[in-house]
Parts: sequence; C-alpha cells; structure tokens
Amino acid sequence: MLFRSETDTEVIVQLVDYFVVNQNMTTKNAFLKVLDLISVDSSYAFVLVDRTTPDVLYVAKYKSPLLIGLGDGFNLVASDAIAMVKRTNNFMEIQDREMVIVTPTDVQVTDFAGNIQKPVTFKLDIDPTASDLGAYPFFMLKEMDEQPAVMHKIAQTYFVQDGELILDAKFLETMKQADKIYLVGAGTSYHAGLVGAKMFEQLTGIQAEAYIASEFAYDQPIMVKKPFFIFLTQSGETADSREVLVNVKKQGWPSLTITNVAKSTLSREADFTMLLHAGPEIAVASTKAYTAQIAVQAVLAKGLGEYLNNANAQNFDLRQQLGLVAVGMQTIIDSKEQISELANKYLVNSKNAFYIGRGTDWTVALEAALKLKEISYVQAEGFASGELKHGTIALIEDNTPVIGIITQQRTAALTRSNLHEVLARGASVITIALSSLAVPEDTFVLPDVDALLTPLLSVVPAQLLAYYTSLGKGLDVDKPRNLAKSVTVQ
Ligand code: AGP
Repeated sequence: MLFRSETDTEVIVQLVDYFVVNQNMTTKNAFLKVLDLISVDSSYAFVLVDRTTPDVLYVAKYKSPLLIGLGDGFNLVASDAIAMVKRTNNFMEIQDREMVIVTPTDVQVTDFAGNIQKPVTFKLDIDPTASDLGAYPFFMLKEMDEQPAVMHKIAQTYFVQDGELILDAKFLETMKQADKIYLVGAGTSYHAGLVGAKMFEQLTGIQAEAYIASEFAYDQPIMVKKPFFIFLTQSGETADSREVLVNVKKQGWPSLTITNVAKSTLSREADFTMLLHAGPEIAVASTKAYTAQIAVQAVLAKGLGEYLNNANAQNFDLRQQLGLVAVGMQTIIDSKEQISELANKYLVNSKNAFYIGRGTDWTVALEAALKLKEISYVQAEGFASGELKHGTIALIEDNTPVIGIITQQRTAALTRSNLHEVLARGASVITIALSSLAVPEDTFVLPDVDALLTPLLSVVPAQLLAYYTSLGKGLDVDKPRNLAKSVTVQ
C-alpha cells in the first residue's frame, strides 16, 4: 500500500477510506477494522466523520483521554470536561477499546465485537464563568492572583466541623499501613511532590519520596513491601503519570490521586481522590495548581500524622498557617510593579539565569527555573546552591542573573555564602528571603510562615518574574511554543 502522508491521523483516515472503497465495507466496519489493526502499545483518541453522513461521529480512544458531553438535541466530544462546561455539565465516560457512535440525539457504545456496553455517565458542577478571562490580559496573571483565594478555599473545604480536619477513615487506615509514600508527577506536579515528600516525612514519620513519572514508569526502584502511591496531576490526564498508575493497579498497590479535575482519568482509576479546589487552570504554565498541590498535601500529611498520633502533626496549626499564607501571597501579589521592574532589568535581555537554594528552597528553585524557561525561553536552571562550586560556577560571568531563595534557617547562611561566590564573579544577584532571615540588602522579603510552607510564598515572586519576563519579550504568555496544557502522550 502506498503511504500518502507521514502524519499518523491522516494515515488512519486513508486506511478507513481504503477499506470502504476497496473492500466495500461500511464506514463503521472499516473504522473497527482499523482500530483492530492498530497496535495496543500505541495510544490514540479518534473522532472520525464520513462526509456523506456529517451528523455521525465515530469515536474511540486508547490510553488517551476522550469524553462525551451530553446535551439536549446535541452531543459533544472533547478531551476533557473543561472544554465543554459552557454547553453541558452531563458527561459520559469512554473506556479503552470501545467504539462510540455519536449523533445529535443518540450515543451508542459497543465493544469491538459489536456488543452493546452500558456507559457510565456523571454530572460535574463547574462554574462555566470560572474559565473566563474577565479584565485580565492573560490567564496566567489571573491564576496567580487567585492563589490567596485558593488557599482559603482549601482551608474551608478540608477543615470542617468547628475547624477540625476530617479525612475519610478508610483512606487513612490504608495509608497508615504504608511503609513508604511514593509521590509521582511530571513537571510542576513533580516539583510539588518534592515539597510534599518533606511534609509527609516530618508530619507522619513515614518515609516519602517524589519521582518523575516518565522515569518511574520505565526505571522502577526496588520497592518496599507496602507502598502507597500518590499521583499529583493538575489535569488528571497526564500520560506519563497514568502509565505508572496502570502498573500500580496491576500490582494491587493502593493509590490516591490529588488533582484539580474531578472524574479525570487518574481520578477515576486511583482508589482515592483529593481535589485541589483551585478552579480551572487554563494557562499552560501551572501556578495556582502548584500551590494548591502543596497545600492539599499539607492537609493530608497533617491528617495522617494526627491519625498516627505524631506530635509534629498535632502541634502544627495548618488552618491558621494557610490563613497567614493567603495574606502573605496577597502582599507579594500587590508588589507586582517591583517584580516587573526586576524582570525587565535583569531577565528580559538575558540568555540564561540560575535559581539557587538548599533543601526545600532548592525544590522551589527547580520550579522557578521551569516557569521562567517555559514561558520566556530564557535558559534557566534550578540548582542546589552547594553544588555550584563543583562545576556550574564556571558559567557565571558578568551580569548572569542568579536568584537565591533563602527561607530555611539551617541553610540560610550557606546559601548566602554561595551567593557571595557568584557575586564575586560578576553575577547580578536577586534574593528572595523570609522576613525572619532577611538582611537589609535583600531584594524581596517574604512574610514569615511555618518553615514547611515557605514554598507557598517563595514561588510567587518567581512566578511573577517569569510572567513579566515573558510579557517584556512580547511573547504569548499563556500559550508558549511547543507546549500543551495536558500532555496526553508519553
Ligand atoms: C508546568 O507549568 C507545566 N504545565 C507542566 O510541567 C505540567 O505541570 C506537567 O505537564 C504535568 O501536568 P499535570 O499536572 O496536569 O499532570
């Protein structure tokens, strides 16, 4: 057979056409035949239209997300519910290896052998206006501004009954059995997991470690006897994370998904779900989902720690701390002008930049660098500040921007000494320091909060620096090149 295209989706249409024209098949049977021919190792989400019957959609998926939206006199197909909430709040799941025929008034689900399947439908209560831009120029700015409100929302949602933290007992009992917590995510969600791991260890005494989903899926470490998996994913649709979850289920290991999207694939497939309550996140650069993921992990770590009678958890007033965090975030957000000036002075015309810190501050440095590079295309690296002198300091020259994050008492002096080293080599140094550790020369001072929660504040100036650098370069902040909001391929 002659290939007329190198684009996979076009090859599929050609193949369907081939069976219809040369083997006299109906469109439905030709589609089924093609689905049967495609290797099960691949992933796909298809909506096929035959131009002779434009009101009929032939739909199938394998591993990739796809959902039917059910309307009155119309039906919709999209990869997630957010895309359809302005039209409907009724949805129907599609399972792998099903074929669905959608018309304006009917949805018929069969397996590949033609047996009728009973579909699962659900309602979602999402405010359709939540994904409107309003007066904002970009979703990223709106979403950063929403962070104090998200902190309040998380506190209100999880601290019920006179401010008491209530979590599902069955879920806590399952987690209690674990001898290690595995936190799995990609990109920003992985960075949130790095912060979470420290909170779980301190508040529960259970060993915890964060893993990059795409690495864990193909390079699994030696496992403990009783692992508990936490999947961190804003969208709930990330293919790399799902690959790990599929194997976790096969092994019979218990799992929880912490996600922003109720009924998303990873939420449906894990044993338990905790929601971020952050509202739809539209900008490709994740901001409020990162801080919400940290806050929800703190809620869980405290809840589990209390269940285990851990003194650190019992003495940690998280509800009050989340209130302080919300106020602190607002103070930083109100200093946008200063951050915009810093971005224009140090980053807009720079080719590269370094974020440095130790421990928790290093994990924030990783996230800060990711934010800057993905929307401003400035080559940025997040670095453990102690490692600089082992090689990377060779890259420091006149005016290289180095941003130091200093929020932990134990390591503050050490990071400052590393900053002196780069200053002596001509770097332009910016510091983001916690008030109680600050010195008069610090560029940006953060209000004090508990040492476990400082990432919730130190990341905000870094998000804003990335935003204003992208803006200063005249780029499309919300839709950076080569990137998608949900990464549904491995
Ligand atoms: C971060 O700004 C990116 N959008 C990206 O790293 C993202 O966090 C990653 O693709 C994981 O997405 P998820 O949280 O939806 O699983």
